[in-house]
Amino acid sequence: MKVDVLLGLQWGDEGKGKIVDVLTPKYDIIARFQGGPNAGHTLEFNGIKHVLHTIPSGIFRDGVMNLIGNGVVIDPVIFQGELDKLEPFNIDYKSRLLISKKAHLILPTHRLLDAASEAAKGKDKIGSTLKGIGPTYMDKTGRNGLRVGDIYSPNFKEKYKALVEKHKQMLKRYKDFNYDLSELEGPWMAAIELLKELEAVDSEQYINDAIKAGKKVLAEGAQGTMLDIDFGTYPFVTSSNTVTAGTCTGLGVAPTKIGNVIGIFKAYCTRVGSGPFPTELEDEVGEKIRKEGSEFGATTGRPRRCGWVDLPQLKYAIMINGASELSMMKADVLDNFDTIRVCTHYLIGEERYDYFPYDVNDVEVVPVYEDIKGWNCDTTKLTSINEAPAELKAYVEYLERNLEVPITVVSVGPDRTQTLENKENKVLA
Ligand code: GDP
Ligand code: IMO
Ligand code: MG
Repeated sequence: MKVDVLLGLQWGDEGKGKIVDVLTPKYDIIARFQGGPNAGHTLEFNGIKHVLHTIPSGIFRDGVMNLIGNGVVIDPVIFQGELDKLEPFNIDYKSRLLISKKAHLILPTHRLLDAASEAAKGKDKIGSTLKGIGPTYMDKTGRNGLRVGDIYSPNFKEKYKALVEKHKQMLKRYKDFNYDLSELEGPWMAAIELLKELEAVDSEQYINDAIKAGKKVLAEGAQGTMLDIDFGTYPFVTSSNTVTAGTCTGLGVAPTKIGNVIGIFKAYCTRVGSGPFPTELEDEVGEKIRKEGSEFGATTGRPRRCGWVDLPQLKYAIMINGASELSMMKADVLDNFDTIRVCTHYLIGEERYDYFPYDVNDVEVVPVYEDIKGWNCDTTKLTSINEAPAELKAYVEYLERNLEVPITVVSVGPDRTQTLENKENKVLA
C-alpha cells in the first residue's frame, strides 16, 4: 500500500481537520508528520466542535490508529490538555494513539524564547503562535533537542537542565523580557509523567511494517504550503516542511511509497500572522468574508486576514506538492456574494507573473482578477453536488480547468455531513 497525504495549499486553516475526519473511515492509520501545537484542526459532528492541536484528526473514529510522527514537536502540557478534553467522549485514546520516540519536545523555555524573540522583532514579528515551534526546531537542527525517547532515560532530568541552562543564557540577551520559569516547570514535568502512560514507538518501523501488511495510511499535514520553511513566504513561515516531502522525513516513508496527494484550499483565501498575501482584501469585502466564514484562529483566536483565491499561488502549491486531487472548502461562505473574484496573474511593475515569485516579499505585487458570477443561495443544506447551483458548479469547473487537477470534494459547512463528493469530473476527463 501507499501512503496518501492530505495537506493545506494556502496559509493554513483550510479545513484539514474536517476532511481528515471525513476520510478516516477509509484508512487504518492517520499520521501527523510535522508541526505541533501551532496547529488547530477543527472537527464538527453531532453538534459538537472539537479542536485538535497535536493529536491526529482520526482520533474520534473507532478502530483507527493515530500516529504522532518523528517530524512533530510536542508540548506535553498542551498535549495533556487535549487528552483531557477527549475524556467526556469516552475515547479510548490509549489504545488508539502512538507517539514516535523521535518526536521532539517543546520545553517551557522554548516558549519563552519564542515570546522573547517575537517581542524583540517589534513590527517585523512573524506573528508566531507563541507555542515555541521555532526554537524547538532550531534545537532539533542544532542537535541539542530532547526527544520523546529521552523521557525514559535515567538522566532525563540532567539533559533537561542542561538544555534549560543554555536557554537561560540565550534569554539574557533579551534585556526587557521578564519571566518566571518555576511556574511553568512543575506542570511540564507532571505532563511528562503522563506522557509515559502512552505508547512510544519506533514509528518509522511501525509505519513501514503497516504499509507492507497492506494497511492504509493517511498523512495529515499541518499549517499550509505557503508557511513551509523552504517554499513559503520566508521568513513569515513556520519552521517545518509542510509540503508532501515533509511526509517522507516526518514519518520515515520513502518517496516511492507516496500515493494520492489531496491538496485542500478554501474557496477564497486567508492568512493569520504577518507576511505577504497578494490577494488580501483590507476593505468591507474582506470584512464580510471574515464574518461569514468566522475567520478567527482555532489556536490563538486572532482574526484571520481574508482575500480572494489566487491561481498563481495555488498552482505553485500544487506543483510543489504534486497534488493529485483537491478539496475546495467553505464554498458556503461565498453564498451571499454577487461576484466572486479570482486572481489569474500578478503584475510587478509592467511585468506579468503567472507564478509565485521570490520578490513577493519586497515589491508591490498587483493581483489581476477575473470576475465570476456568484450563486447567491444557501448551499449548506445540499446533499449532492448534482443539486448545487449552476454558478457553483461553474466556479468549480473554472478552477479545475485552470489548476488542471480535479476537485473531488466541495465542502459547504463545518459539519462532517456538509461534504459533497465530486467524483464525476467532466472538465479534465
Ligand atoms: P485546519 O487547521 O486546516 O484544520 O482548519 P481550522 O480548523 O483551523 O479552520 C477551519 C474552520 O472552518 C473551522 O472552524 C472549521 O470548523 C470550519 N470549516 C471547515 N469546513 C468548512 C466549510 O465547508 N464551511 C464552513 N462554513 N466552515 C468550515
Ligand atoms: P493549522 O495546522 C494558520 C502561522 C502563524 C505565523 C507563522 C509562524 O491549523 O493550519 P509558528 O507558531 O509556527 O512559529 O508561527 O505560521 N501558523 C499558522 N497559521 N494555521 C496554522 O496551523 C498555523 N501554524 C502556524 O500564524 O504566521
Ligand atoms: Mg487551523
